[in-house]
Amino acid sequence: MNEHRRVRAAERFRGARVTLRLVTLEDCTERYVSWLEDPEVAQYLETRWSPQNLASVRDFVGSMVDSPHSYLFAIVENERSLHVGNIKVGPIQPRHRYADVSYFIGERSVWGKGLATEAIQLATFIAFERLDLHRVQAGLYEANVGSGRALEKSGYTLEGRMKKQLLGPRGWEDHLWYGLLREDWRREVVPSVSVDDSATVTR
Ligand SMILES: CC(C)(COP(=O)(O)OP(=O)(O)OC[C@H]1O[C@@H](n2cnc3c(N)ncnc32)[C@H](O)[C@@H]1OP(=O)(O)O)[C@@H](O)C(=O)NCCC(=O)NCCS
Repeated sequence: MNEHRRVRAAERFRGARVTLRLVTLEDCTERYVSWLEDPEVAQYLETRWSPQNLASVRDFVGSMVDSPHSYLFAIVENERSLHVGNIKVGPIQPRHRYADVSYFIGERSVWGKGLATEAIQLATFIAFERLDLHRVQAGLYEANVGSGRALEKSGYTLEGRMKKQLLGPRGWEDHLWYGLLREDWRREVVPSVSVDDSATVTR
């Protein structure tokens, strides 16, 4: 584990519906692989360009665990203590102090319940309050309306449009960039978050 990391493995960032904690190699299960193999989940993820299996997932998670510039969090549904997807803050540009945020909810049965929105809000809290960033941003395929909406509900605004930059499932799509500055971050889009670093918290 990289000693310079600002989030510890035992820490939990708990909101009303979901909790974020760092992903570990133990999270690399067939269920995780099945999320990336689900065509509906993967249609706007770059993982779809290469075969996904336990080895590729372990490689990716291993690189995140060791990275000084990226934080990969598990999104854990509070109700069932169930890992349902991931959200990444990174790579951080250390000199400019900004980072990308990217995410997916792999369990389609819980789509539309506000989990991605709260996960984005918690990750944004971590980015500004823990990682001392001044800006976060997220890129998405224009047709991914739910993703854009979750960002807007978290205070992000549409800043840029790269015309037909991405090859989506139905042809060329505009690449939209959303961003949020710390100074524009409003209290009403910060979830009620409790931070717990007790090692006894259930996974
Ligand atoms: C996009 C995704 C993250 C949304 O997750 P989610 O937990 O279902 O999102 P939320 O429940 O927080 O919904 C946020 C808003 O988007 C809306 N929304 C969600 N999916 C939608 C869809 N397919 N079409 C239109 N609106 C949608 C919700 O209704 C909600 O808006 P509202 O509160 O005004 O009704 C999820 O569908 C997903 O993981 N997709 C596959 C991977 C992916 O695309 N990741 C993002 C890459 S940029």
